[in-house]
Amino acid sequence: MIRLLQIVFGLFLATALHAQTVLVKPYVQPGDGSTLGESDVKVIAWLTDQTPGEFVVEYGVTPALGKTAQPKRVALDLSPRQKYFNYSATLPRLPFNSTVHYRVRLGGKAVREGKFATRKTADQSTRFIVVGDTADGKPDQRKVAYAMAQTAPEFMLIVGDIVYSKGRVSEYMTNFWPVYNNVEKAGPATGAPMMASIPFYGVIGNHDVGATNLAAYADGFAAFYFFHPPLNGPKNNPWNTPIAGPAEQVAAFKAAAPSYPGLCNYSFDNGAGHFLCLDANRYVAVTDASLQKWIRDDLTKTKARWKMVFFHHPGFNSSAKHNSEQKMRLLAPLFEECGVDMVFAGHVHNYQRSKPLKFQPANATRLNPKGNVAGQFTLDEKFDGAANTRPDGILYIVTGGGGAKLYDPEFTNQPDKWKNDEGHTVPFTTKLIADRHSFSVVELDQQTLVLRQVDEDGKEIDRITVTK
Ligand SMILES: [Fe+2]
Repeated sequence: MIRLLQIVFGLFLATALHAQTVLVKPYVQPGDGSTLGESDVKVIAWLTDQTPGEFVVEYGVTPALGKTAQPKRVALDLSPRQKYFNYSATLPRLPFNSTVHYRVRLGGKAVREGKFATRKTADQSTRFIVVGDTADGKPDQRKVAYAMAQTAPEFMLIVGDIVYSKGRVSEYMTNFWPVYNNVEKAGPATGAPMMASIPFYGVIGNHDVGATNLAAYADGFAAFYFFHPPLNGPKNNPWNTPIAGPAEQVAAFKAAAPSYPGLCNYSFDNGAGHFLCLDANRYVAVTDASLQKWIRDDLTKTKARWKMVFFHHPGFNSSAKHNSEQKMRLLAPLFEECGVDMVFAGHVHNYQRSKPLKFQPANATRLNPKGNVAGQFTLDEKFDGAANTRPDGILYIVTGGGGAKLYDPEFTNQPDKWKNDEGHTVPFTTKLIADRHSFSVVELDQQTLVLRQVDEDGKEIDRITVTK
């Protein structure tokens, strides 16, 4: 009897010592689905320590599941203290306009069960969130996460500065996963496990590539490990994020990062919308003819009713900070030519909405040394998003209130304070709310787009309707 107990205890100890630790619970990602072809796809991903485990993903369009997917496992050997297995399972051939149920199992134990919405076909309405400047590890970010979850979006775009301050894996572990994914009980003080059911689309901001050199930060560029976006962007081009460091380390990074460089530039359709996500960092030459050709092709090829563009650094900004970083203005004529309806950015930590505008740069191929771009504005003064819902020009939205410290709270509803980098009053901004964190909730169908700005308490602070 004693011998039997010893054996049982020994087995228990062995299991406990070799037990798998799931460090990042399974979360839903978009996967390589761009156009609305025959079916949708999603990826379920998670992160563990380096104890191997026999995982399986079960899924189906009813709670009975029925299908299985085997995950791919990639070792991340970042430092002696940071060694992980990065898992991802692709769920192919999913029907559009559906709810898919899933369960990730390790042996006989369910690690996570959840469900998510697949993309909508063009005749259906869809609802999504856009927000930037999120995971800095402060309490405000959790409040915003909880408020966002309450609006039940089908998917979400984070327009850059996803994780502070250098976009490292260690910073994801402390600032990101505990707020949007590994959350036991949702609430304003804890966040919400949004990622169990909502695919997050990442857009690269300056902080996301803040590590710059793998020799100094071996766990840098983490977004490229964790996001699984559509991979329809340009591949080997000079405007991809440069990964500096010893050749061996750079090669290991590229082998282990499934979305490098795909996360820099990509696009997808969902419902009546086309979504183009761009990297606007310093190393990107927006005047590059081949980059502009790719953007033009992408925006003219789509049949979607609404065209929206997402990047981090706003071309049109009325805060005091980042005011001369106007590079993205150079793309305004191209966006106008291609029929873009709305452009979303972050970087500036508040909410700003422009009047519908057209912009012609004085010099379309060159930035001045400060980074600002002078030019001619044509503003639609009649659009109000309520009685008049047909804008003549593009609406530029800054939605950088996702959690990081707010910029210029005293600018809220004070147009006399909205100045450009030369101190002149800015003519293009019509709404600026900077005294609270907030995010954009957009609902669209073939005829109508409604944009609501919602604050960290769930209160609506701005609303416009745009019609075709
Ligand atoms: Fe930024």
